[in-house]
Amino acid sequence: MRKKVTIVGAGNVGATAAHWIAAKELADVVLVDVVEGVPQGKALDLLQALAVEGSDVSVVGANDYAKTADSDIVVITAGFPRKPGMSRDDLLRANAEIVGTATEQVVKLSPNTILIVVTNPLDAMCEVARRKSGFPRERVLGMAGVLDSARFSAFIAAELNVSVDNVSSFVLGGHGDQMVPLPRFSTVAGVPITELMDAATIERLVKRTAGGGGEIVALLKTGSAYYAPSRAICEMVDAILKDKHKILPCAAYLQGEFGIRDLFVGVPCKLSARGLESIFQVKLTAEEERALQRSAEAVRELVGALG
Ligand code: NAI
Ligand code: 2OP
Repeated sequence: MRKKVTIVGAGNVGATAAHWIAAKELADVVLVDVVEGVPQGKALDLLQALAVEGSDVSVVGANDYAKTADSDIVVITAGFPRKPGMSRDDLLRANAEIVGTATEQVVKLSPNTILIVVTNPLDAMCEVARRKSGFPRERVLGMAGVLDSARFSAFIAAELNVSVDNVSSFVLGGHGDQMVPLPRFSTVAGVPITELMDAATIERLVKRTAGGGGEIVALLKTGSAYYAPSRAICEMVDAILKDKHKILPCAAYLQGEFGIRDLFVGVPCKLSARGLESIFQVKLTAEEERALQRSAEAVRELVGALG
């Protein structure tokens, strides 16, 4: 039997994630959205694209959760973007309501599913999903690190004029301005970039990575990035459905790892059919450690605002 992935929120990120997952024939996809006709229309369009692609998975759209029953993975992308005049706390509360309701609905029909949260503010929304689902930490993950690392890799490859295939990047921390790209663990063909670029160049690429989402928002004017975020979701789905034991940076609920407890923060995670198999710990320098703690504090503040 084919695997099933539900995506809640058929907007830019959700629909494009459905595209990647279906084109790679990873699973049947159910797209759920509150707007009538939109998930159904996008699902039908995608299904017809698959006829050209030669992929036999099904894609269906719905405004309720009936068709999501027994999903192997549920990806939550539903939410509002930040609107003019809206504070960060207003956005936090509005999206917490959406993510909370979506989580309650999906877990009723898919009690054994693995949740991948995408809605922003990411790390706090993971906490909402964890509380509402009551799931163990193995089955609640957040997507951000794969995206942030991809951005760092793209900038490194362009700077050195090498294939992006040769680049492996390492980004820790919350999904925000305080994220922690780690040059020491970011390599080109196995060589740390600290041996390939001067400090000023690295600093420029690190800053561009941390501001990577904002750079795209400023260009698009309305909305935010979705091609890279949706491809990053697909990478996590692939690792879980294929039980790859692949190490990817994801938001995970830390229990003392990296000196952080009871908080979702981006760390290297080994993903398997169980979801989070284990956290891959590495020794940080004092400076890296301080940067990670600063990033975690920013997440803790947001989670505190949830009440
Ligand atoms: P979008 O506005 O295109 O799509 C959001 C969709 O959610 C809309 O179709 C809307 O109708 C739907 N929705 C709203 N309330 C709902 C509910 N209760 N149930 C089901 N669907 C509902 O936004 P986009 O670009 O797809 O982004 C989605 C979220 O993902 C945003 O919060 C964005 O900030 C976040 N994001 C996170 C990234 C990350 O790295 N974690 C990267 C990119 C986006
Ligand atoms: C991004 O990093 C908006 O979180 C989103 O592109």
